This record gives sequence, structure tokens and C-alpha cells, in this order.
Amino acid sequence: MTSHASATFPTLRTPAGPVPPDAPAWNRQRPGAMPHHRYRPVHDRVALPLTDRTWPSRGIERAPLWVPVDLRDGNQALAEPMDTERKRRLFDLLVAMGFKEIEVGYPSASETDFAFVRHLATGGAVPEDVTVSVFTAARRDLIDRTIASVEGLPRTVVHLYTATAPTWREVVLGRSRGEVHGMIRDAATHLMRRAGELPGADVRFEFSPEVFNLTEPDFVLEVCNGLTELWEASWDRPVIHNLPATVEVATPNVYADQIEYMHRHLARRDAVILSVHPHNDRGTGVACAELAVLAGAQRVEGCLFGNGERTGNVDLVTLALNLYAQGVDPMIDFSDIDAVREVAEYCTRLPVPPRHPYAGALVHTAFSGTHQDAIAKGLARHAEQAAEQGVPAGQAPWSVPYLPIDPHDIGRTYEEVIRVNSQSGKGGIAHLLRTHHGLDLPGALRPDFSRTVQRATDAGGRELSPEDLWDLFRATYLRPAQDGPVTLVSWHTAEEAPGVHRFAGTLRIGGREHHCRGTGNGPLSAFTDALGTAGIAVDILTYAEHAVTSGPGSPAISYAECRVGDVTRWGAGWDTSLLAASVHAVLAAVNRAERP
Ligand code: KIV
Ligand code: ZN
Repeated sequence: MTSHASATFPTLRTPAGPVPPDAPAWNRQRPGAMPHHRYRPVHDRVALPLTDRTWPSRGIERAPLWVPVDLRDGNQALAEPMDTERKRRLFDLLVAMGFKEIEVGYPSASETDFAFVRHLATGGAVPEDVTVSVFTAARRDLIDRTIASVEGLPRTVVHLYTATAPTWREVVLGRSRGEVHGMIRDAATHLMRRAGELPGADVRFEFSPEVFNLTEPDFVLEVCNGLTELWEASWDRPVIHNLPATVEVATPNVYADQIEYMHRHLARRDAVILSVHPHNDRGTGVACAELAVLAGAQRVEGCLFGNGERTGNVDLVTLALNLYAQGVDPMIDFSDIDAVREVAEYCTRLPVPPRHPYAGALVHTAFSGTHQDAIAKGLARHAEQAAEQGVPAGQAPWSVPYLPIDPHDIGRTYEEVIRVNSQSGKGGIAHLLRTHHGLDLPGALRPDFSRTVQRATDAGGRELSPEDLWDLFRATYLRPAQDGPVTLVSWHTAEEAPGVHRFAGTLRIGGREHHCRGTGNGPLSAFTDALGTAGIAVDILTYAEHAVTSGPGSPAISYAECRVGDVTRWGAGWDTSLLAASVHAVLAAVNRAERP
């Protein structure tokens, strides 16, 4: 059967043009045949006036105001938009997580959104300290419908938008710059008048010049500054100017320059909340938002897990947890990231990919041997340091290799951190046997068991759970004491004089019984001496033992590496008696050596 992947190869046109004459010898890439000349760099599309940027040397010290737009921007991007029940579940989740301003819909665009805003306005679902925001295009009839939807809500932001970029003005709106400006002012004036008619309501205003990132900076300033005046903004009643990268077209530094330029040139800056709304078309929405905050943005609109039109809005989960990982309180609760993910998946009917930062199923997991080894050592060191400092492990400073944050902080367990497949190594395997089954494998046994695990994973092609590892360990090292060619029918030891031990017992070898005796300076050497009398030459090379749990009657495990004739094998024994465990460990090694 031809696989899908190989079936697509013939359609590729491997770049085959002449290697550029100035290319260094180490780079043999060739010119391709795809028509890249059709696209223009951002510098040819929009003026970028800032050169003395200051954002590169700043750091983010506090969380911006996060405004989820999942119920509008994210909802509009779904093949099956959310119904009222789903919208309400998502709204309640956002409130529970700690968001204080939430865009809840585009009430003039659909009956469902209108009904949902009415549901919130009449249903008592909006806590005292939460402001809902509603979205509208700059048209009088749509503004009227929007105002009708929010009647009864004590606090709202009405978010007005118009596309301002040249291509949109010419192709979509068919209006000149002056006409677009006039249209915005007319709508903003109408909005202000209609909002004033809502008795006792606290209505604030937001404006978005849609496609800000491709709009002439002087035009954005002209429009936004005009609205700051018109809406009578003040420091205690600021307007929101939200500057979207509606379609992401440039590297994030370009957006940061655009935002810093606005931050420095917007009039009455203390009466303006500078907001950003990055999309993710180039896959750099998070970087755009972070650099924009460095550049002066105070508010960020986005969606949980980056839902939204096309490649999505900026991902608020990643942004907030990136801050958390820098020691800055994101002021949003992620202590049960999987519950957040499950509600978002239910509401959007979209899965969060397994590699999604922080929330994906695989993002805290190491399969590679070297990483597992480092993580296992890091977790052990973390526990020691917490104990030394006398603080719970969950409060001690975190620096475990390969884990940017402690998975426990977001409700994950360490179980998922180390998983074993054919790429895994001895450190991870030993870590799982220790944490799940109380075994502390001697260093010299680890590579031996790791080879056995590798054979099993190579043969089965699948991952092994901690339970599978334990079964494999038992079958490899413990069981041979019971089901090998040599078994002990009965035995006892005695210390006849200080340092003089005797072993006496009956062995069954290949179905025949042998009585044997031996002497040594300990019970195990007496046992190997007895084995010698039955024709089995055994030397114990390495030996270790420990209790598996604490308390009386807890089982013990012994590990013995033995030379049996001319082969060397490990065996293990498990018993409530340490002596019995050690005898079984040696017997298991003998039987493993006897096997072909
Ligand atoms: O992406 C966008 O530009 C928007 C609005 C804020 C207009 O969703
Ligand atoms: Zn958007």
C-alpha cells in the first residue's frame, strides 16, 4: 500500500536553480520555483516611522489587562458557532479564571449573540467587578441594536471598529481617507449619544482601527486622537484604543515599533488605554503581544489556546503562563489547566494540540534518555533543597532541567513527565521504578535493565507504562528464582560461631534433588559454597538491598550481580525477610545464566 506521505512527493519541485555565486561553501541551498516575487516586504506596504525604539531593553514586570475575545472573535471563527449554553459555560470559566473584562459578542451580527448579551443582562451572571464588552461596526443601525442589547448591564465597554488600511478603504469600503474618518466620527458621536440615554449605566468606549498594522500611522493618530477628544476621555474615564494586527504580516519587532510609536504620539496619553489585538498568521502572535507590551501596550485582547479566525488570535494562556514562568503573577488562575482546556475544547469543539505550550498533553513529557536522566536528577535535587530550606516542595524555587515550570503548579502530575519508549534511557526507567514501585536500582543494574526495556519497546513499538516496567522487571530478575532450572526445595542457615555461617538445603536441578551444604563468612557466601558442591560455580560481584516501604513487615528487595561459570547475570529477590530476598536474588542470577 502506498502511504499518503510518499504519494505527495512527485508533486514537489525540488529547488534546482544555480547556487548563488556569493553563497558560502557550507550552504548549498538552491533557488526555488515558487513565485515568492508576488509578495512585498512590510516596509514597502506601510510607513514605519520609529527608529529610536526603547522597547528592546525593557522587561515585563506586571500583567497587562487581559481581555478574552473568545465569545466574539473566537466564536465567529468556528464552523459551528457556540450556542447560548456553550457561551455561558465559557463565560463562567473566564470569570472563574479571574478575567475582569470580557468581550461577550457582536450582538448586531446575530440573534444568538444578541440573545446571549440579553441573557447576561437579565440573568445575574456578571459579577460586580467584571465588565462586559460588546462589539459593533461603525453604523448607526448596528449601534442602536448594540445599545438595545446591553440595557440593564451596569458596566459595559462598547467596542466600535472600522477598517482603516488603504487596501480595505479602497477595495472593501470604497471610500477615501477623509470619508472613512467622517464615517467613524459620525458613528462615534451617535454611540456617545445613545449610550448617554442608558439610565444609570457605566458605558465606556473602545475603538479599533481594523488592520492597524497596515494603516498609515498619521491616519491612525488623527482618528484615535479625534475620538479621545470627542468621547471626552480623562484619566479616570479613559478610552481604549485597540490597535490590531488583524492579519499578521511582519516580524514582531515591526509591530512593537508601531505600538511604541503610537504610545509616544497618542494625545492625552493618560486618558487612553493602549490595547493590542494580535492575530497569529505568521505564528508569532505571542511574540507580537509580548513585544507590544514592552513597547507600551497596557491591555491585550486574545483567546484561550489561540482560537480565532484563520490561525487564531493571540493565545492568552501562553502569554499569561510565559509571564508566570518569569516570576510575574499573571493574575489569572491556571491551577487546573486541564479543566480549562476541557471546557474550551467542549465550547469550541476544537482540540488543543498535544504540543501546545503549557497545556498540550505531551508538553511536560520527556521520552529521550538524556532528558529523563536530567529531569530525574533535577526532581531529586529539588526535593532535597526544599527539605533543606524547610519549605514544601511546591513553594521552593524551581530549576529543574527541561521543565520551564513545575507541572504541579498547573494541576499536572509528575507521572506524565517521564514516559518510556524506545528512545528512553536508564535514568528515566530507574526514576519510574523508584517513584511508582519503591525500587532503587543499583547504578550497575540500570544499563542492564535498560537494554531489556529497549528490546521490549523495539519489539512492541510502543510506550511502556510504570506498570509495564514493573512487570518486565519482575519477569526478568525476580521470577527466575522460582521457575528456572535450579530451585530451592527447602533451606536454612545458621551462624555457628561469630563470622562462621552454614547453609544447608535441598536443590532441585533439572528435576533431580540434591542435598547440599556450604560454609562462609556470611549466609550468602555459605549459599554460594553450597551451590559449588552441587556443581554450580557462583561469585557475587555486586550486591545491594533495601526495604521497599517503611514499617514492620514491609518487603525488602535484594539485587545480586553474579558470575556463574563464565557468564555474568543480575538477579533480584523480593521477600519480607532480607535473607530470603538475598538468597532468591542469587538463585535468580544462577537461573538467568543457565538459560540459553
Ligand atoms: O482582528 C481585528 O482587527 C478585530 C477587531 C478588533 C476589529 O478583530
Ligand atoms: Zn481579531
